[in-house]
Amino acid sequence: MPRVAGAEGVAEAAAILERGGLVVFPTETVYGLGANALDDDAVRAIFAAKGRPADNPVIVHIANIAQARRLAARWPEAAQKLAQAFWPGPLSLVVQRAPQVPDSVTGGLDTVALRIPRQPMALQLLEASGLPIAAPSANASGRPSPTRVEHALADLGDRVPLYLDGGPCDVGLESTVVDVTGTPRILRQGGISRGEIEAVVGPLGEVPRSDRPLAPGMKYRHYAPRVPLFVVAVVDDAVLRRFRGASSKPVFVVPSENSLRAPDVVAMAPSTKPEAWAHDLFAVLRRLELEHDAIIVQAIPEKGLGAAVMERLGKAARG
Ligand code: TXA
Ligand code: MG
Repeated sequence: MPRVAGAEGVAEAAAILERGGLVVFPTETVYGLGANALDDDAVRAIFAAKGRPADNPVIVHIANIAQARRLAARWPEAAQKLAQAFWPGPLSLVVQRAPQVPDSVTGGLDTVALRIPRQPMALQLLEASGLPIAAPSANASGRPSPTRVEHALADLGDRVPLYLDGGPCDVGLESTVVDVTGTPRILRQGGISRGEIEAVVGPLGEVPRSDRPLAPGMKYRHYAPRVPLFVVAVVDDAVLRRFRGASSKPVFVVPSENSLRAPDVVAMAPSTKPEAWAHDLFAVLRRLELEHDAIIVQAIPEKGLGAAVMERLGKAARG
C-alpha cells in the first residue's frame, strides 16, 4: 500500500529519490510525480507510471539558480531576468540543455525546462535530496492535473510508494512555460500571466501554429474529465433546457455573476477573479465527473490567469 505523509516524510522521500524511486510531492501549482532528473531509468519509470508518451519532455525542479545554470548549456539574459522576477514560483524556463541531462527528460530535444517551485515541502525535498527533480503533473496521462494529494492517489495508487501531502495547491494550474532560447515566447500558459512576463522582458515572440517543438505535451489529450465537457459563452435558460434534454445528469458551472441558481448549477468565483477559478478548476472537474454525465462550463474572459483557465477548458472539451 502506498503511504501518505506530511513534512515528516521528506527525509524518506529524499532517500527514495536517491535510490532511483518515485515520489509524489506538492508544488504551488499542481502535485508532481518526481524522480532524480540525472537518473535515466528513474525518469523512464515516471513515464511508465503515468502512461505518458516518451516524446513529451518533463520539467526539472531545482533549488536555486546556480543549480539551474549547471543544467543549462547557455543561460541567456532573459532567463536571468525572469528567474529573478518569478522564482521560486509557477514559471518554467526552456533553455539549451547541458550534456548531463538525460534524453528521457527532454524527450530527445536539445532543450530542458527548469523551475524553482515555491511550495515549502517541495523546497525541503529539493534541499534534502540535493538532486534536480524531474516531475510532470502527478495524474494519469490525459486526466485533470492533481491539486490535492487524493487526486494523485486516485490516478497512480501503488505505482508510487510515498505521497507527500501538502494540502490543496495554491495556484491550482501548472506553471507557465517560457522558451528563452531566442526571443522569449510562451509555450504553455500557466500560473504567471503573459502581462507579468512582458513587464519583465518586453513584448514576447509569437509561436507559429506550425512550429512543432513547442511544448510537445500540448498535442496530447489533456485535462479531460471522464464525462463530456462543453464550454459555452453563457449558461442561460435555453442552454439549461438543451442539456437537460440531451443528458440525464448534466451540471452547469458558472461564474457567480450569472444569477441562475438550481441544484444542477455550480457557482464559482466571479469571472473577474480568474485566480480563484484556477485554484478550484481541476478539483471541481474531478468532483463533478463522479456524479454527472456532462459538464457545461460558462467561459470567462481570457484576462490574466483567465487565459490559462480557458486554455485548459478548451483542451478538456476536446477530450
Ligand atoms: O507546474 C508545473 O509545471 C507542474 C509541476 C509539477 O511543476 N508540472 C507540469 O509538468 O505541469 P507536465 O509534464 O505536466 O507539463 C510539462 C509541459 C509539457 O507540455 C511539456 O511538453 C513541456 O512542459 N516541456 C517540458 N520540457 C520542455 C522543453 N524542453 N521544450 C518545450 N516544452 C517542454
Ligand atoms: Mg501534466
